[in-house]
Amino acid sequence: MTHKLSLFLLSSLLSGCTGALPAVTADTALLAQTLWPDATQAQLEQGRSMYVARCGGCHALVPPARRSPDQWRSDVSEMAPKARLSQEESLAVLRYLVTANRPTGATR
Ligand code: HEC
Repeated sequence: MTHKLSLFLLSSLLSGCTGALPAVTADTALLAQTLWPDATQAQLEQGRSMYVARCGGCHALVPPARRSPDQWRSDVSEMAPKARLSQEESLAVLRYLVTANRPTGATR
């Protein structure tokens, strides 16, 4: 019993609080490129790590699919100064949030 419980605790620790945050894949990059031809997988990965590193300090990270692309546009422009993101960084975060874990065609 105790053994099972500690395994459970260990696996929740390992998955961490960012466990639900979708990883960037080649498909995420393809989707992003339909919206912004200059988007790259590396940029989206940078956006994901900036989101984790800079947006999670004040509140829990909202899962990308929880808000519409338009909501993200306004949230990111409101939050970027709080997180002290440069223009380039906030663009990467926005592109990640709009395309992560979204079926093609659901980005508008
Ligand atoms: C300095 C602290 C701070 C940082 C850093 C910060 N936020 Fe926030 N965030 C807040 C506060 C305070 C609120 C609630 C009040 C408001 O909406 O202004 C909020 C609200 C939000 C909401 C709305 C949540 C809801 O349920 O309505 C979203 C989404 C959000 N932040 C995203 C972000 C993103 C994305 C970043 C990184 C670019 C970020 N935040 C960085 C302080 C912060």
